[in-house]
Amino acid sequence: MGVETIGVIGAGQMGSGIVQVAASNGLKVVMNDISTEFVDKGFATIDNSLSRMVKKDKISSQEKNDIISRIKGSTDISDMKQVDFLVEAATENEQLKLKIFSELDDICKNDTILSSNTSSISITKIAGATKRPQKVIGMHFMNPVPVMKLVEIIRGLATSDETNKTTNDLALKLKKIPVEANDFPGFISNRVLLPMINEAIYALFEGVGTVKGIDDVMTLGMNHPMGPLALADLIGLDTCLAILDVLFKGLGDPKYRPCPLLKKYVDAGWLGRKSGKGFYDYSK
Ligand code: 3HC
Repeated sequence: MGVETIGVIGAGQMGSGIVQVAASNGLKVVMNDISTEFVDKGFATIDNSLSRMVKKDKISSQEKNDIISRIKGSTDISDMKQVDFLVEAATENEQLKLKIFSELDDICKNDTILSSNTSSISITKIAGATKRPQKVIGMHFMNPVPVMKLVEIIRGLATSDETNKTTNDLALKLKKIPVEANDFPGFISNRVLLPMINEAIYALFEGVGTVKGIDDVMTLGMNHPMGPLALADLIGLDTCLAILDVLFKGLGDPKYRPCPLLKKYVDAGWLGRKSGKGFYDYSK
């Protein structure tokens, strides 16, 4: 199946990154969100990111304009009837995703593959909200999408070989490296990453170290590009909590219990970079 137009649901940091990468690799993209304000924000993020690349002479201004011209904004989910492949990147909320997939199943062409960028929710369960479970798959990008090479591909119980192949081919077309994971809570990436982030938050909570101390140990001592607390701020503390909840409930092991300090930050609206405050202050 040839993929020429893709639809992306959600124009937040992951959605807009996926849109940017798809349009940069020659695909036409429909970027959908629930309001014009969110769609405009998505365009602004993409504009920013491409401008950085122009400044660094990675692309020309003409190429930047061509990339943006391939993106169509949308606030009407029925616009997805024209796409060949769909990537859902809405908020990490199971009920919301099930509702979106059920709607997309009615709207999209019969042969359109419906993929989810979920970071931890069961692909098999999402597929169960549609009448095309063989055409549902996980396509999990990493943040920041334009920079990170990995796409984790997750097959649900009923995902067909053909769907898997088309999705792997698409990842390669986007110049990403696909790695297959089985459908268990958190897949591979977040099964390994989030317990480390959670433990870093416990270390802060229990006074083992300061924010800077904990992050310095991991950057200077383990050569991580950024410390776990800075990374949590980049991912979004609400997203970190949602993933830990899925690991905790889905695997039933107390080792995944979200740190109370993380819950407190989320309750306070301290969500990391996107809200201007998390473990660090981004207000300037
Ligand atoms: N768009 C385009 N380019 C970008 C960018 C963006 N949004 N953000 C960074 N870049 C580019 C820069 O232009 C720069 O390019 P260059 O090397 O060619 O000059 C390069 O990336 C490095 O950026 P910076 O110099 O600004 O900053 P750093 O060297 O500190 O790198 C980083 C920033 C790439 C974010 C690095 O710190 C990093 O790799 N951090 C770890 C990120 C990570 O672990 N991501 C996975 C999160 S988990 C996840 O997403 C799963 C989810 O389910 C939770």
